[in-house]
Amino acid sequence: MRTGWLPVARVEQLPMAGSYLTMDLFGQPIVVVRGSDDQIRVMSSICLHRAANIVEGSGRRNVFTCPYHAWSYDTTGQLKRAPLMEGACEFAERDERLPQIRSEIWQGFILANLDDEAAPFAPQVKGLSDYFDAFQLEDMVLVDTLEFDSPWNWKVLVENFMEAYHHIASHSKTFEPVFHAADSRVLDSDGPWSILHMPAADQEHTDPGGLPNVPGLEPWQERDLFASVMYPHFLLAVQGSSVAWYQVLPDAVDHLTLKIHLLVPATTTQIDGFEEARNALRELVSVVHHEDISANDLVWRGLNAGATKQGRLSPLEEAIWQQNQWWLDKMTGG
Ligand code: FES
Ligand SMILES: [Fe+2]
Repeated sequence: MRTGWLPVARVEQLPMAGSYLTMDLFGQPIVVVRGSDDQIRVMSSICLHRAANIVEGSGRRNVFTCPYHAWSYDTTGQLKRAPLMEGACEFAERDERLPQIRSEIWQGFILANLDDEAAPFAPQVKGLSDYFDAFQLEDMVLVDTLEFDSPWNWKVLVENFMEAYHHIASHSKTFEPVFHAADSRVLDSDGPWSILHMPAADQEHTDPGGLPNVPGLEPWQERDLFASVMYPHFLLAVQGSSVAWYQVLPDAVDHLTLKIHLLVPATTTQIDGFEEARNALRELVSVVHHEDISANDLVWRGLNAGATKQGRLSPLEEAIWQQNQWWLDKMTGG
């Protein structure tokens, strides 16, 4: 996982020079910041003096000053001032810069990778990018976030996200009438990603909240639902009018924080009734996710039971199999 590409933010979350946000990437505190040169960087936020974390939260500033001894850094991570350090040998502010972490921007998402040697992200997911091209993800903006404290291993959530088989039971009154489990299918994949296509049962299906579709979509793209994972756990639920980005932030083997970010085309935010439509989407996502919480609670408890063995997967769960093949390759080097 420490060698995987992980989405840390959207570019529109950092609109101006000095805009920043912070997070913990597998024990590495990071700051994602738009510099005064307009470049977005991902950096360690650990002070170069005696390792205090220099910044938390989010906001906008031109200087990051360590709360411990007031060393200050600019928005590129360059150390600008270290008070009372005159006489320290082999030390010059100009030689000191916060460690830069590998990052890449893909379709408006800022991704980070703790492995300097990792292969670039975009070429690995080209097949997925081509499939979702018409949805113009790069032109979307983040308009709402739901946050959940989730007491399971992150893989429980990913596997649940990537199959529609459970619509028949977990979502029998919400998703199943609209997206029949039996109609779902998993695309062939040529890289570290999976796509689950859930055709709408009703050929006239439209967004229940009234959000407009991305212009130029084919009818099936407007009415169907798509779940995708870029391994290990970059999750997107794509529909004609909006995208839900499930940002998975594991912090222990049995715990993660989940942020569900809702994205819509920038033009959608200008329509009459946008607030109501967005709130309707938020409510639907919340209801469905609470159904998934119940399922994930059941599974995580079961996986920790001594007599539990691996069960057979349904063909409808092929995306789980796809990702497990990738894990297997990673673990065996095959
Ligand atoms: S630890 Fe940051 S200035 Fe001392
Ligand atoms: Fe679900």
